[in-house]
Amino acid sequence: MSLKLGKLIYTGKAKDVYETENPDRVIVKFRDDITAGDGEKKDILQLKGYYNSLISSKLFEVLEAAGIKTQYIGLLEPGYMLAHKLEMISLEVITRNIAAGSLLRRFPFEERQVFEKPIIQMDYKSDEYKDPMLNDDIAMALGLITAEELNDLREITLKINKTLKDFLETKGIILPDFKIEFGYDCEKNIVLGDEISPDTCRYWDIETWDVLDKDLFRQGDSGVMDAYKKVASMVLDDEDLKKWGLNEI
Ligand SMILES: Nc1ncnc2c1ncn2[C@@H]1O[C@H](COP(=O)(O)OP(=O)(O)OP(=O)(O)O)[C@@H](O)[C@H]1O
Ligand SMILES: [Mg+2]
Repeated sequence: MSLKLGKLIYTGKAKDVYETENPDRVIVKFRDDITAGDGEKKDILQLKGYYNSLISSKLFEVLEAAGIKTQYIGLLEPGYMLAHKLEMISLEVITRNIAAGSLLRRFPFEERQVFEKPIIQMDYKSDEYKDPMLNDDIAMALGLITAEELNDLREITLKINKTLKDFLETKGIILPDFKIEFGYDCEKNIVLGDEISPDTCRYWDIETWDVLDKDLFRQGDSGVMDAYKKVASMVLDDEDLKKWGLNEI
């Protein structure tokens, strides 16, 4: 695998997507830009893209090993992921195991309330409309997805949740909630895309319940990159840490 970027086809708030020589494949570049509050709070944090690409790659590998279809083909080098090109579905699929964040602002849940049955929430992915929460009828009326696909998405998402939660627990991390995005590959399969990183998940240290994710940035804390680095060192195998020189940073 070599790093030869084709045409830039999409540039988002934290990643760029490039074409490759193969029309069904893209290179996802993880940038150092970090945003919160619908892009109102912005910064550039050195090495964020590096850590997020390593963490995402590891978690995609764990999901692939559990039989879940993902975009992931390989990490070309830190920051650059080779992936299946997807036609993205404009949904943010959020899974909640423990009450945190916007859920507490919108509903009378207790902080850190544990949900025996995970909550799956779907938001309309649209900066213009500020990612509003959907229900099934609205999602279908908008033509985002069919009833059958909604059922499939829920089933896949629950499997992803269980796989990630169990894996992260073995690494000393609690997974209170996370956001994922899906798309269709060239054979019209529904495939997990985008990223699974501290930008898109809540991660808490299992021992101390310390926050290890983008909430630190939202709160204006200075230790954001230390936390992302800690997640990378907790999640990756020694072999990967050595391969990507993480021990030396
Ligand atoms: N495998 C893929 N093929 C094609 N597009 C993808 C793939 N994975 C993710 N994308 C899309 O690429 C973009 C990634 O960029 P990024 O996450 O920076 O932007 P954003 O989604 O606009 O911002 P944010 O997630 O912060 O709202 C998103 O639009 C995402 O849906
Ligand atoms: Mg995004």
